[in-house]
Amino acid sequence: MTDKTDLKARESEAIIQTYARQDVVLVRGSKARVWDSEGKEYLDFVAGIAVNNVGHCHPTVVEAVKRQAKTLIHTSNLYYTENQVLLAEELKALTGMKRAYFCNSGAESVEAALKLTRRSTGKSKIVAAERAFHGRTLGALGTTYKSIYRAPFQPLNEATFVPFNDVEALKAAVTAETGAVILEPVQGEAGVYVADAEYLRAARQICDDKGALLIFDEVQTGFGRTGKWFGKDHFGVMPDIITLAKAMAGGLPIGAMLAAGPAAEAFQKGDHGSTFAGGPLICAAALATIQVIKDEKLVHRSEEMGAYLKSQLEKLAPREIRGLGLMVGLDLDTDCKALVEKALQKGVLINSTGEHTLRFIPPLVVGKEEIDKVVSVIGESL
Ligand SMILES: Cc1ncc(COP(=O)(O)O)c(C=O)c1O
Repeated sequence: MTDKTDLKARESEAIIQTYARQDVVLVRGSKARVWDSEGKEYLDFVAGIAVNNVGHCHPTVVEAVKRQAKTLIHTSNLYYTENQVLLAEELKALTGMKRAYFCNSGAESVEAALKLTRRSTGKSKIVAAERAFHGRTLGALGTTYKSIYRAPFQPLNEATFVPFNDVEALKAAVTAETGAVILEPVQGEAGVYVADAEYLRAARQICDDKGALLIFDEVQTGFGRTGKWFGKDHFGVMPDIITLAKAMAGGLPIGAMLAAGPAAEAFQKGDHGSTFAGGPLICAAALATIQVIKDEKLVHRSEEMGAYLKSQLEKLAPREIRGLGLMVGLDLDTDCKALVEKALQKGVLINSTGEHTLRFIPPLVVGKEEIDKVVSVIGESL
């Protein structure tokens, strides 16, 4: 058995200390549950930060990975592999975009989008939203709003930040020099703020008028999280670029950037690349994950369970409940950081995005009884 005290001490010596971890060592997972090194069970309403949409260790994904691992794990992009093409075709069909570029994470997908913007428009200025989170690599960081993330790493190519859902502010910020506007259809790390349909429609028009690309960052909102396949599907607005990652491969690391229109033709051979991107193993995991989402009707389930979760959260007398599908933010008149600690003691993993905000992003396979248990644990902890 892993000794927690020993592991924590070794971690602090061996790992560069960039994470504030919770006081638990996780060793196993299944569906919407995980177990710690002492055998205690937890309901997981964090899902690896909106990653485990099909639940932990889904047998279909595990089987696909095992099968592919015995056949071919890695080749690099110097060669053709079929799984990469199959996955690109699947993503095209699901999103309505024209071409895919594969990478290994959300931040990398944003990097690719920013590079493609330069290649496609010749312009480097970006407009992003206040509260936005688009990742922490040097390019993506320039579009992430919180100054505590950005300030220590300046100079960056910093975006012009505008209030979210404010059409006039967006109109004023986007000029002929703007290469792209980047928006999350639902702002996740900020505490789950949903875009207005009218705002995204206006963003599309403003970009068209000014010759800028519209990028939707769907890293968190993708693959059924919001009760539709992608966040954009709630709004009837097509961007030029979509960034994807998190839930795509059932818990394994992958990212993708999809482009439509002239942007889909802008990158030339050698313009961008990654050794591991779109390898046969990760693409097998992603194809299996997408199949599970379809077979188990998890997009519909996300919508249904999300509505149930919201109805139950009303009992907690919240300041506000926001969200779509199983991506829900809850503002409470309490110290939510302390609440997260209490919930952990009571066997619930939950995430706070701010002093007074909890974010619920459970696996989409979650059931009503599990939702009831989590709501009652939070109620008791208040
Ligand atoms: C909307 C959005 N974009 C980008 C990222 C960065 O993704 P990653 O952590 O995989 O680099 C995140 C991560 O939370 C995100 O929520």
